[in-house]
Amino acid sequence: MRTPIIAGNWKMHKTIEEAVAFVREIRFKLTEIKGVDKVLCPSFVALAAVKELLGPTDIGLGAQNMYFEEKGAYTGEVSPLMLKGLCQYVILGHSERRAYFGETDEGVNRKIKAALAHGLTPIVCVGESLEQHEAGQTEEWVSGQVRAALAGLTAEQVRALIIAYEPIWAIGTGKAATGAGANAVIGLTIRGTIADLYDQATAQAVRVQYGGSVSPANIAEFMSQPDIDGALVGGASLKPDFVDIVRISAEVKGV
Ligand code: PGA
Repeated sequence: MRTPIIAGNWKMHKTIEEAVAFVREIRFKLTEIKGVDKVLCPSFVALAAVKELLGPTDIGLGAQNMYFEEKGAYTGEVSPLMLKGLCQYVILGHSERRAYFGETDEGVNRKIKAALAHGLTPIVCVGESLEQHEAGQTEEWVSGQVRAALAGLTAEQVRALIIAYEPIWAIGTGKAATGAGANAVIGLTIRGTIADLYDQATAQAVRVQYGGSVSPANIAEFMSQPDIDGALVGGASLKPDFVDIVRISAEVKGV
Protein backbone atom coordinates (compact mmCIF):
# COMPACT_ATOMS: atom_id res chain seq x y z
CA MET A 1 0.00 0.00 0.00
CA ARG A 2 1.48 3.33 -1.08
CA THR A 3 0.73 6.28 1.19
CA PRO A 4 -0.47 9.23 -0.89
CA ILE A 5 1.79 12.29 -0.81
CA ILE A 6 0.96 15.89 -1.65
CA ALA A 7 3.89 18.29 -1.90
CA GLY A 8 3.77 22.04 -2.40
CA ASN A 9 6.52 23.47 -4.58
CA TRP A 10 6.60 27.16 -3.73
CA LYS A 11 9.25 27.87 -6.39
CA MET A 12 10.71 31.40 -6.07
CA HIS A 13 7.81 32.80 -4.07
CA LYS A 14 7.32 34.14 -0.53
CA THR A 15 9.78 36.07 1.61
CA ILE A 16 10.62 34.59 5.00
CA GLU A 17 7.90 36.76 6.58
CA GLU A 18 5.33 35.64 4.02
CA ALA A 19 6.34 32.01 4.45
CA VAL A 20 5.94 32.25 8.22
CA ALA A 21 2.52 33.91 7.97
CA PHE A 22 1.28 31.32 5.47
CA VAL A 23 2.51 28.33 7.48
CA ARG A 24 0.86 29.75 10.60
CA GLU A 25 -2.36 29.97 8.62
CA ILE A 26 -2.37 26.41 7.28
CA ARG A 27 -0.36 24.17 9.63
CA PHE A 28 -3.10 23.11 12.04
CA LYS A 29 -5.60 22.57 9.25
CA LEU A 30 -3.06 20.37 7.51
CA THR A 31 -2.24 18.31 10.59
CA GLU A 32 -5.92 17.51 11.06
CA ILE A 33 -5.93 15.69 7.72
CA LYS A 34 -4.76 12.11 8.11
CA GLY A 35 -3.84 9.35 5.71
CA VAL A 36 -1.85 11.56 3.35
CA ASP A 37 1.78 12.67 3.62
CA LYS A 38 2.01 16.45 3.38
CA VAL A 39 5.16 18.30 2.37
CA LEU A 40 5.99 21.99 2.03
CA CYS A 41 8.92 23.04 -0.18
CA PRO A 42 9.77 26.70 0.47
CA SER A 43 12.87 28.51 -0.77
CA PHE A 44 16.17 27.68 0.91
CA VAL A 45 16.13 30.89 2.93
CA ALA A 46 12.75 30.10 4.51
CA LEU A 47 13.53 26.47 5.41
CA ALA A 48 14.81 27.14 8.92
CA ALA A 49 11.90 29.40 9.87
CA VAL A 50 9.33 26.97 8.48
CA LYS A 51 11.02 24.03 10.24
CA GLU A 52 10.68 25.93 13.50
CA LEU A 53 6.96 26.49 12.93
CA LEU A 54 6.24 22.93 11.85
CA GLY A 55 7.95 21.65 14.98
CA PRO A 56 6.58 18.26 15.94
CA THR A 57 3.66 18.30 13.46
CA ASP A 58 3.37 15.55 10.87
CA ILE A 59 4.04 18.00 8.02
CA GLY A 60 7.20 17.28 6.06
CA LEU A 61 9.63 19.84 4.73
CA GLY A 62 11.54 19.80 1.46
CA ALA A 63 14.05 21.86 -0.50
CA GLN A 64 13.67 22.61 -4.20
CA ASN A 65 17.18 21.76 -5.31
CA MET A 66 20.56 20.65 -4.01
CA TYR A 67 24.10 20.19 -5.27
CA PHE A 68 25.65 16.73 -5.19
CA GLU A 69 28.93 17.59 -3.49
CA GLU A 70 29.06 17.66 0.30
CA LYS A 71 31.15 20.83 0.52
CA GLY A 72 33.73 22.86 -1.34
CA ALA A 73 34.29 25.84 -3.60
CA TYR A 74 30.85 25.87 -5.23
CA THR A 75 29.66 29.43 -4.73
CA GLY A 76 25.93 29.73 -4.35
CA GLU A 77 25.22 26.02 -3.97
CA VAL A 78 23.59 24.11 -1.11
CA SER A 79 24.78 20.63 -0.15
CA PRO A 80 23.06 17.52 1.18
CA LEU A 81 24.94 17.97 4.46
CA MET A 82 23.33 21.40 4.85
CA LEU A 83 19.85 20.07 4.15
CA LYS A 84 20.19 16.99 6.30
CA GLY A 85 18.61 17.76 9.66
CA LEU A 86 16.81 20.76 8.17
CA CYS A 87 14.36 18.96 5.88
CA GLN A 88 13.44 15.43 4.78
CA TYR A 89 12.73 15.86 1.07
CA VAL A 90 14.38 17.51 -1.90
CA ILE A 91 12.86 18.19 -5.33
CA LEU A 92 15.41 17.24 -8.01
CA GLY A 93 15.42 17.73 -11.77
CA HIS A 94 12.42 20.03 -11.96
CA SER A 95 11.82 21.05 -15.58
CA GLU A 96 12.46 24.70 -14.70
CA ARG A 97 15.92 23.75 -13.45
CA ARG A 98 16.55 21.67 -16.55
CA ALA A 99 15.35 24.51 -18.82
CA TYR A 100 16.84 27.58 -17.12
CA PHE A 101 19.80 26.29 -15.13
CA GLY A 102 21.30 23.72 -17.46
CA GLU A 103 20.53 20.64 -15.37
CA THR A 104 21.34 17.44 -17.19
CA ASP A 105 20.13 13.88 -16.70
CA GLU A 106 23.60 13.00 -15.45
CA GLY A 107 23.63 15.80 -12.89
CA VAL A 108 20.16 14.85 -11.69
CA ASN A 109 21.33 11.25 -11.25
CA ARG A 110 24.30 12.40 -9.15
CA LYS A 111 22.03 14.59 -7.02
CA ILE A 112 19.63 11.68 -6.44
CA LYS A 113 22.50 9.48 -5.28
CA ALA A 114 23.83 12.20 -2.98
CA ALA A 115 20.39 12.87 -1.49
CA LEU A 116 19.78 9.17 -0.81
CA ALA A 117 23.26 8.76 0.67
CA HIS A 118 22.36 11.44 3.22
CA GLY A 119 18.91 10.13 4.06
CA LEU A 120 16.99 12.77 2.09
CA THR A 121 14.00 11.64 0.02
CA PRO A 122 14.30 12.88 -3.56
CA ILE A 123 11.21 13.97 -5.46
CA VAL A 124 12.49 13.34 -8.97
CA CYS A 125 10.73 15.29 -11.73
CA VAL A 126 10.29 14.01 -15.27
CA GLY A 127 8.02 15.10 -18.09
CA GLU A 128 7.82 15.90 -21.77
CA SER A 129 7.54 19.22 -23.62
CA LEU A 130 4.52 20.26 -25.67
CA GLU A 131 6.42 19.50 -28.89
CA GLN A 132 7.29 16.02 -27.69
CA HIS A 133 3.74 15.49 -26.49
CA GLU A 134 2.30 16.48 -29.83
CA ALA A 135 4.85 14.42 -31.74
CA GLY A 136 3.89 11.29 -29.78
CA GLN A 137 7.30 11.08 -28.11
CA THR A 138 6.12 11.12 -24.49
CA GLU A 139 6.73 7.47 -23.76
CA GLU A 140 10.23 7.37 -25.21
CA TRP A 141 11.26 10.66 -23.59
CA VAL A 142 9.89 10.00 -20.12
CA SER A 143 11.21 6.45 -20.11
CA GLY A 144 14.65 7.81 -21.03
CA GLN A 145 14.51 10.36 -18.23
CA VAL A 146 13.56 7.66 -15.72
CA ARG A 147 16.37 5.38 -16.91
CA ALA A 148 18.92 8.19 -16.66
CA ALA A 149 17.68 9.33 -13.24
CA LEU A 150 17.81 5.83 -11.76
CA ALA A 151 21.13 4.75 -13.31
CA GLY A 152 23.20 2.86 -10.77
CA LEU A 153 20.55 2.83 -8.04
CA THR A 154 19.59 -0.34 -6.19
CA ALA A 155 15.95 -1.46 -6.09
CA GLU A 156 15.90 -0.52 -2.41
CA GLN A 157 16.98 3.02 -3.25
CA VAL A 158 14.35 3.31 -5.96
CA ARG A 159 11.64 2.29 -3.52
CA ALA A 160 12.76 5.09 -1.20
CA LEU A 161 12.34 7.90 -3.70
CA ILE A 162 9.36 9.67 -5.19
CA ILE A 163 8.86 10.43 -8.87
CA ALA A 164 6.79 13.36 -10.06
CA TYR A 165 5.42 13.15 -13.59
CA GLU A 166 5.10 16.75 -14.68
CA PRO A 167 4.34 17.31 -18.36
CA ILE A 168 5.95 20.67 -19.12
CA TRP A 169 2.93 21.81 -21.11
CA ALA A 170 0.77 21.46 -18.01
CA ILE A 171 3.01 23.41 -15.61
CA GLY A 172 1.65 26.82 -14.73
CA THR A 173 -0.58 26.86 -17.80
CA GLY A 174 -3.94 25.97 -16.27
CA LYS A 175 -4.05 23.14 -18.81
CA ALA A 176 -3.66 20.07 -16.64
CA ALA A 177 -3.33 16.61 -18.13
CA THR A 178 -6.39 14.40 -17.85
CA GLY A 179 -6.46 11.90 -15.01
CA ALA A 180 -6.52 9.02 -17.47
CA GLY A 181 -3.70 10.51 -19.56
CA ALA A 182 -1.43 11.04 -16.56
CA ASN A 183 -2.31 7.62 -15.19
CA ALA A 184 -1.31 5.99 -18.47
CA VAL A 185 2.11 7.65 -18.51
CA ILE A 186 2.69 6.87 -14.84
CA GLY A 187 1.38 3.31 -14.97
CA LEU A 188 2.65 2.17 -18.34
CA THR A 189 5.73 4.29 -18.97
CA ILE A 190 7.13 5.15 -15.53
CA ARG A 191 6.20 1.98 -13.64
CA GLY A 192 6.77 -0.02 -16.83
CA THR A 193 10.32 1.30 -17.13
CA ILE A 194 11.02 0.56 -13.47
CA ALA A 195 9.65 -2.97 -13.87
CA ASP A 196 11.96 -3.36 -16.86
CA LEU A 197 15.00 -2.10 -14.97
CA TYR A 198 14.21 -3.83 -11.66
CA ASP A 199 11.07 -5.89 -11.10
CA GLN A 200 7.32 -5.56 -10.81
CA ALA A 201 7.41 -5.32 -7.01
CA THR A 202 9.74 -2.31 -7.15
CA ALA A 203 7.61 -0.68 -9.86
CA GLN A 204 4.55 -1.07 -7.67
CA ALA A 205 6.28 0.14 -4.50
CA VAL A 206 7.57 3.50 -5.73
CA ARG A 207 5.31 6.49 -5.19
CA VAL A 208 4.58 8.56 -8.28
CA GLN A 209 2.94 11.98 -8.23
CA TYR A 210 1.31 13.98 -10.99
CA GLY A 211 2.20 17.67 -11.31
CA GLY A 212 0.99 20.47 -13.58
CA SER A 213 -1.86 22.90 -12.87
CA VAL A 214 -3.22 20.82 -10.00
CA SER A 215 -6.06 22.62 -8.21
CA PRO A 216 -8.88 21.83 -5.77
CA ALA A 217 -11.10 21.45 -8.85
CA ASN A 218 -9.11 18.68 -10.54
CA ILE A 219 -7.24 16.89 -7.73
CA ALA A 220 -9.99 14.28 -7.23
CA GLU A 221 -9.67 13.25 -10.86
CA PHE A 222 -5.97 12.54 -10.38
CA MET A 223 -6.28 10.90 -6.99
CA SER A 224 -8.94 8.51 -8.21
CA GLN A 225 -6.47 7.00 -10.71
CA PRO A 226 -4.88 3.71 -9.58
CA ASP A 227 -1.28 4.58 -10.47
CA ILE A 228 -1.22 8.18 -9.19
CA ASP A 229 -0.15 8.50 -5.57
CA GLY A 230 -0.36 12.22 -5.09
CA ALA A 231 0.58 15.55 -6.56
CA LEU A 232 3.39 18.06 -6.78
CA VAL A 233 1.54 21.36 -6.61
CA GLY A 234 3.00 24.68 -7.74
CA GLY A 235 0.77 27.75 -7.95
CA ALA A 236 -2.06 26.36 -5.82
CA SER A 237 0.37 25.49 -3.02
CA LEU A 238 0.93 29.20 -2.33
CA LYS A 239 -2.66 29.65 -1.18
CA PRO A 240 -5.06 28.00 1.28
CA ASP A 241 -6.13 25.99 -1.80
CA PHE A 242 -3.31 23.68 -0.76
CA VAL A 243 -5.26 22.60 2.31
CA ASP A 244 -8.28 21.83 0.12
CA ILE A 245 -6.09 19.78 -2.23
CA VAL A 246 -4.75 17.74 0.70
CA ARG A 247 -8.24 17.31 2.17
CA ILE A 248 -9.76 16.12 -1.10
CA SER A 249 -6.82 13.77 -1.63
CA ALA A 250 -7.43 12.21 1.78
CA GLU A 251 -11.11 11.82 0.99
CA VAL A 252 -10.43 10.14 -2.33
CA LYS A 253 -7.42 8.04 -1.40
CA GLY A 254 -6.64 8.33 2.29
CA VAL A 255 -5.34 5.15 3.88
P1 PGA B 1 1.88 24.29 -11.20
O1 PGA B 1 3.39 23.82 -11.02
O2 PGA B 1 1.04 23.52 -10.20
O3 PGA B 1 1.89 25.76 -10.92
O4 PGA B 1 1.48 23.97 -12.60
C1 PGA B 1 3.73 22.48 -10.74
C2 PGA B 1 5.22 22.33 -10.62
O5 PGA B 1 5.95 22.90 -11.42
O6 PGA B 1 5.72 21.60 -9.73
